[in-house]
Amino acid sequence: MVVASSTGTGPNHVAVIMDGNGRWAKHRGLKRSEGHKKGVVAVRELIKNAVDAGISQLSLFAFSSENWRRPALEVRLLIQLLNNTLENEVDDLHQNGIRLKILGDLERFDSRVEAMVRNAESLTADNQVMNLNIAINYGGRWDIVNTIQKMVAGGCSSDEISEEAISHSLSTGGIPDPDLFIRTGGEHRISNFLIWQLAYTELFFTDTLWPDFGKGDLEAALQWYMGRERRFGRTSEQVVKGEH
Ligand code: IPE
Ligand code: IPE
Ligand code: MG
Repeated sequence: MVVASSTGTGPNHVAVIMDGNGRWAKHRGLKRSEGHKKGVVAVRELIKNAVDAGISQLSLFAFSSENWRRPALEVRLLIQLLNNTLENEVDDLHQNGIRLKILGDLERFDSRVEAMVRNAESLTADNQVMNLNIAINYGGRWDIVNTIQKMVAGGCSSDEISEEAISHSLSTGGIPDPDLFIRTGGEHRISNFLIWQLAYTELFFTDTLWPDFGKGDLEAALQWYMGRERRFGRTSEQVVKGEH
């Protein structure tokens, strides 16, 4: 566990709720879908800036298990945009040494989508520059329920159910918990993102709407993070002494 960012350690894992595409479009008299398209441009920029900042894990919330409640046309356009973006960007990601992992329940999509995702994951599996985790049809509660179901189906007994075992079986198994969480768009909530994994994450909220989120906004979040003292239940004096 990385203790005390106030000693100057940058975040290893950054998780982002990219919110505000719809409002960005509305403010300009455009359709919500235009906001989502502009949001993709901001994602591309964030990936590049995150690599430059030395972040090793970047987790992005692209579509929540609750987003199916939106009007059917918006859902259709969002899924289409996600598919096309993934398909078009995979080669570029691979060339830049980025390892892709999709978090979420892919059973809701047709099997071609699942096959495309699995191919992209295996193509990029050995890349080491940065891990990019994209959450699609993801919900933190789904992740926990799915994990417990897998453990029970695998014959796990009650004394084998531990925090470590659950962490290991979640869709983020093997990925350290986020150090820094960023939510754009002004809402101060987690919206069922990585609820288990965010237990001790530093939470940064900004009013910037996702399509406007640029290098300066990432730098502001990283700067803010560097000023946090992460105590994990200890006292400040213990942290200063470096007791683990
Ligand atoms: C985030 O922007 C994108 C997704 C949830 C897919 P929104 O579409 O939620 O934008 P607002 O919050 O309505 O402005
Ligand atoms: C969270 O944003 C989900 C994603 C960014 C994918 P929402 O806009 O769906 O969140 P709520 O509904 O306002 O909490
Ligand atoms: Mg929103």
